[in-house]
Amino acid sequence: MTKNASTTGLYTKKAIKCFTNPKNYGRIKNPDGIGKVGNPVCGDVMWLYLKIGKKGRKEYIEDVKFETFGCVAAIATSSILTDLVKGKTLQAALKIDNQKIVKSLGGLPPIKLHCSVLAANALKKAVEDYQKQKEKKKSK
Ligand code: FES
Repeated sequence: MTKNASTTGLYTKKAIKCFTNPKNYGRIKNPDGIGKVGNPVCGDVMWLYLKIGKKGRKEYIEDVKFETFGCVAAIATSSILTDLVKGKTLQAALKIDNQKIVKSLGGLPPIKLHCSVLAANALKKAVEDYQKQKEKKKSK
């Protein structure tokens, strides 16, 4: 059997790197969409900020930042998510689910798998928030 996070129960080198040196940490001034999610069991919270750009008719994620108050897995998955979605169209970004996030880290210890849901849900909420704001502007 190959050794990975699911068999060793330990964090991968990639997950530790994303935790110790997270990418895209911080806030975006005047974001186009914000996604806030929390895990009621552990109390961890994440905010995801999006800046949306346009390439022709397609909307894409021009910039993305996060703030996460949480565990190693929550921060590592937040960081890798921002790397995965930056520059992607909204449609492509929404296809990134927690399984893909976990895979990109080379796995997570089984007990920490639930933490990856935070980042995936924050992205969905931020896109929903952007779309709501857009509708509001249209109806004015
Ligand atoms: S323990 Fe709360 S998200 Fe990881």
